Amino acid sequence: MQAVESFSFERYRETVDWLLSHTKQRPRIAIICGSGLGLLADSLKNQESFQYTDIPNFPRSTVPGHEGRLIFGELQGQPCVCMKGRFHMYEGYPLWKVTFPIRVFKLLGVETLVVTNAAGALGDSYNVGDLMVIRDHINLLGLVGENPLMGPNEDRFGPRFPALSDAYDRKIRALAMETARQLGYTSFVKEGVYCMVSGPNFESIAEARLLHSLGVDAVGMSTAAEVVVARHCGLRVFGMSLITNKVTKDYDTQELVDHHGVLEVSQRRASTLQKLLTELVGKLESIDNSSGN
Ligand code: HPA
Repeated sequence: MQAVESFSFERYRETVDWLLSHTKQRPRIAIICGSGLGLLADSLKNQESFQYTDIPNFPRSTVPGHEGRLIFGELQGQPCVCMKGRFHMYEGYPLWKVTFPIRVFKLLGVETLVVTNAAGALGDSYNVGDLMVIRDHINLLGLVGENPLMGPNEDRFGPRFPALSDAYDRKIRALAMETARQLGYTSFVKEGVYCMVSGPNFESIAEARLLHSLGVDAVGMSTAAEVVVARHCGLRVFGMSLITNKVTKDYDTQELVDHHGVLEVSQRRASTLQKLLTELVGKLESIDNSSGN
């Protein structure tokens, strides 16, 4: 087998030491903002922001709609760090680079990772603009031999064979659904299964039908790899998808999905997602230090 390249523990440390010496903030929650969903990062109080290009070893994001900044600040009084712009496999990055920030967060002292993304819905019960709490994922790339944990295991981060059956924290999911209810969002907040594909093309109709038959509710080009690495190093994970389009499963449909449409919907719904996540982050403390999943 071909040797798998990756960064050594010391390279992660180098990045973390640089960040610790450039900010006094010590985040406990990390939030990854998906396509067009950077509004949340903008709402942090006492912001300190770093361009990815200035942070040692950090990749840079190349996608329209994805800025490249790491923003420290407070959300509902909780110390947070937000990624405004993430890295994707379709940009040409290997998965260990796509997931590089996750281990940096771990070494910074982060305990909980919140991931957001834009996704296409396969289920007929979903509408454009819905929010989906991620109950579980299908890491399609991992199933066919592209996993960010491949290569020598770094025991200082986690075990060689991590369990993934409890990937998305049960208590945070319940709290999110409860918060959605309190905000009057019940009609458009659902819970479902996310599937990560590499992209950059959107799905063919046969692929859409395959994913639907596998039990996928929403498909996108991110998240699962980041979650695998986060769970490996013991972070608690909460994930949420914004449904930006319905994936065509019908040969008679003429409509084509495009990135601008995806961005347009995420910008339109960003404030709703922001409201839900802000409320949720404010309540995370109430389930902190309880016994995990
Ligand atoms: N497919 C894959 N990724 C996506 C989609 C989609 O339909 N919508 C937003 N990201």
